Amino acid sequence: MAELILGVMISGRGSNLQALIDACASPDYPARIAIVIANIPGAGGLARAEAAGIPTATIAHRDFPTREGFESEISAALKGAGVELVCLAGFMRLLTPAFVETWRDRLINIHPSLLPAYKGLDSHARALADGVRFTGCTVHFVRPEMDVGPIVAQAAVPVLSGDDEDALAARVLAAEHRCYPLAVRLIAEGRVRISDERALIDRAATPDRALFNPAED
Ligand code: GAR
Repeated sequence: MAELILGVMISGRGSNLQALIDACASPDYPARIAIVIANIPGAGGLARAEAAGIPTATIAHRDFPTREGFESEISAALKGAGVELVCLAGFMRLLTPAFVETWRDRLINIHPSLLPAYKGLDSHARALADGVRFTGCTVHFVRPEMDVGPIVAQAAVPVLSGDDEDALAARVLAAEHRCYPLAVRLIAEGRVRISDERALIDRAATPDRALFNPAED
């Protein structure tokens, strides 16, 4: 099967980008990254891409008077690199409906919560304040509304008594690093289809048991 060509968009340290770089390094992984685009000059993830020999572009939103100008530069860079699937990996700018429509069903995001819970910022602080027993991460197709769209994969992570925001974020991040490569692989293998705004997975392996937190005695 041909490799799916990815473009990854980042704003920061790029640990999810690194997880995708590491996955793509495996010979049987069905995708490769053609370009990494940062909207913040010097974003930590750029060095990760360079270390892996992946072309990078810095397209700083501050250099553009309009969102449309900024995003058309991004689209041109993605298209120029032959990108087939765009992966937002800690990209912290809202994208306009026009950009989202241009890349409809070819644009995915990872968010640090079990969507539709805790959309937006500070998801871990809000999960802790609510006393939920599980949170997690979600990889989903992007729609114009923030943190909305067909869900490809989720990982549930227990919230432990004594967790602070950093401890919980670290546990969720470790799950993100497995969830993003999994979701991209499913898409690259042609096993994900969108129907009625739900993503259906062909031959999905599913867990067969409930998870309890606290665990049953
Ligand atoms: C990740 O936790 C990702 O889920 C989150 O930003 C972090 C980026 O970390 N994304 C969002 O909150 C998007 N709404 P990374 O740069 O180390 O991958």
